[in-house]
Amino acid sequence: MTALSYFCKMKLLDGKLSSQAVKDDLIVQVKELKQNGKRPPHLACILVGNNGASETYVASKVKNCAEVGFQSTLIRYNDEISEEELLIAINKLNNDEAVDGILVQLPLPKQISEQKVIESISPTKDVDGFHPINAGKLVQGFPTFIPATPYGMILMFEYFDIDTKGKNAVVIGRSNIVGRPMSVLLSGNYKYGNCTVTICHSHTKNLEEICSKADILVTAIGNPGMIKANMIKQGAVVIDVGITRVEDATALRGFRIKGDVDFDDVATKASALTPVPGGVGLMTIAGLLKNTMYAYLHKDQ
Ligand code: GUN
Repeated sequence: MTALSYFCKMKLLDGKLSSQAVKDDLIVQVKELKQNGKRPPHLACILVGNNGASETYVASKVKNCAEVGFQSTLIRYNDEISEEELLIAINKLNNDEAVDGILVQLPLPKQISEQKVIESISPTKDVDGFHPINAGKLVQGFPTFIPATPYGMILMFEYFDIDTKGKNAVVIGRSNIVGRPMSVLLSGNYKYGNCTVTICHSHTKNLEEICSKADILVTAIGNPGMIKANMIKQGAVVIDVGITRVEDATALRGFRIKGDVDFDDVATKASALTPVPGGVGLMTIAGLLKNTMYAYLHKDQ
């Protein structure tokens, strides 16, 4: 707990604690598999080009696989790879019995259709949950891969036992990666769902007014510090999905990661708040690891 959150009696939703709990469970599962003579789950990550943020995310995915005892393979291509070559590489992984999960880090260079790539991944290995078959299953409430960031947020609600039933939830952002699936999960008939959900986006009018009625606010805008205390209902749970690199000459790497939420301001009003970094980002990895285990356990279905 930071001095500020103690002072404000605000609960810090510390992703280090909740992600470690998920990883500890997976470590036990992997140990049991190995004791029974089975191989561990195997995630294959494809990284095209050398976008700085993508490099960091993929490196973290690979590192976290090792931490829980999963096998991982990182396959790199330069940003001139053709769509056809990439689709052939994915098809090889689809047919590789020793690979359980496939993740192609987005964004991709402009000569490659992201949608074609997403649809080329076998739905049974689609640990991102982006394939239309899996997205459709999620909407209809059938078991499937849940996109890692929304999954991570739900796992965080579970860890901190955040009551969601009957609450007004506002999700800012309608992407297929975060906002859309999160709105589906929060409105679903699940223990950490059953909310009345409003989705906001770039054409939303009266954003401040809508946010100020939210018991649960999930923000995935990518505009650092935009969410201020005057937009928050007293006692709201605020989940910050923003991860923007902001130049900072005093920082080691020349930038800092900033969330959508003005943390110190919003902490004076929220009952619970995620930090950035150290919040949802860590839970995204936890969600991906859970999906990789799910792919391993359900590969014949
Ligand atoms: N780029 C940003 N977020 C994600 C993600 O969750 N999965 C993949 N594959 N790429 C991303």
